[in-house]
Amino acid sequence: MSANPSASDLEALWMPFTANRQFKANPRLLARAEGMHYWTHDGRKILDGVAGLWCVNAGHGRKEITDAVSKQMATMEFAPPFQMGHAGAFELASRLIKLTPGDLDHVFFTNSGSESVDTALKIAIAYQRVRGEASRQRLIGREKGYHGVGFGGISVGGMVNNRKFFGAMLPGVDHLRHTLDLEHNAFSRGVPEWGAHLADDLERLVALHDASTIAAVIVEPVAGSAGVVLPPKGYLQRLRAICDKHGILLIFDEVITGFGRLGTPFGAQYFDVLPDMITSAKGLTNGAIPMGAVFVRKHIYDAFMHGPQNAIELFHGYTYSAHPVACAAALATQDIYEREGLLTRGAELAKVWEDAVHSLRGLPHVIDVRNIGLVAGIELESRSGAPGARGYEAFVKAYEKGILIRVTGDIIALSPPLIVEPAQIDQLITTLREIIRATA
Ligand SMILES: Cc1ncc(COP(=O)(O)O)c(C=O)c1O
Repeated sequence: MSANPSASDLEALWMPFTANRQFKANPRLLARAEGMHYWTHDGRKILDGVAGLWCVNAGHGRKEITDAVSKQMATMEFAPPFQMGHAGAFELASRLIKLTPGDLDHVFFTNSGSESVDTALKIAIAYQRVRGEASRQRLIGREKGYHGVGFGGISVGGMVNNRKFFGAMLPGVDHLRHTLDLEHNAFSRGVPEWGAHLADDLERLVALHDASTIAAVIVEPVAGSAGVVLPPKGYLQRLRAICDKHGILLIFDEVITGFGRLGTPFGAQYFDVLPDMITSAKGLTNGAIPMGAVFVRKHIYDAFMHGPQNAIELFHGYTYSAHPVACAAALATQDIYEREGLLTRGAELAKVWEDAVHSLRGLPHVIDVRNIGLVAGIELESRSGAPGARGYEAFVKAYEKGILIRVTGDIIALSPPLIVEPAQIDQLITTLREIIRATA
């Protein structure tokens, strides 16, 4: 592989969620990664402020993962997952359910967050049918939600650009209102005090559609991709209570919040709310090999385990479900998390992190700072008539100054690897301060 792609190489690739022409005019190429850092193709060291893309929770270049993957490749590179199995899949499933709360004790493997979401939505509808409630087919998402890019995910998702180009979506979907409210909650430290009642919006949808038509509600406990939107205190508890009252399943999309991002293994534990399913991916394998997992509660799994022994209970799965190499990567990742205490490290660093990110308050154009666990959102005021321009400028300046951040419109999102040291938090925020000051 050459270090620098030619102009025609650059042209051949249609890059995802990227301004292709702008990028190709001035490419940002990463060549190597280790620990908390990337190195660019021209040798510059970049501090990773976003764990790659919310996934490299144990930091880059972990030798145990590389070794486990190489060993698995040499032993058995593929095993068919339908009507066949391999030990690593079962070992991983049983290992993972030790991390999940309550009776979320069955796992279905996928290859990405998007597939996890589609899987959970399908299980929800099928579950309602097998328990004799076949009229419950409606899915409820939330404005500003991001649930990946499958048709199920964009249908329940609530980000307009991810939806508006793609036609009619799944039928029968509705959305709760979102929980972002700067008027009441700007510069809250941790979860905002105001807004638990926003969960009552589900009662409005029940009144409109009737509970007998609703299969499930899906929300991110903390919305990441829309720009770090936190649940107000008590909101998720209230959502759970309303779902229980009406026989509606509650799905937490924990593709970002899973695997230690908030200082607990899952967001469900952070908020002490037990959903019926959890979708995950990203940190499951430290981002090293694509893999996702859906955790379901016992009553859901059990509801399918009826009928003749030879009947396939769920007509769903992927060629690469529980891929042996992904399982090996995930098992090695879980070893690292456990040995280094990374799934709770976010809680130890949360105060240092909170103080650091809130020190950006008062800088030009900063209209909100939001934080939880090892996540932060810094919202910049949009330039008149040019939403996203200020955010993009900050992103490019950050890259030039040696830090990798993520922007959604004019909101900067930070989510460093969970191995981050306080001195690196300081470096990240000090550099970001200079960048925000320099971004007119
Ligand atoms: C909450 C959530 N769900 C689903 C996804 C989709 O995951 P993937 O890109 O692996 O399909 C993401 C990705 O960022 C996410 O944040």
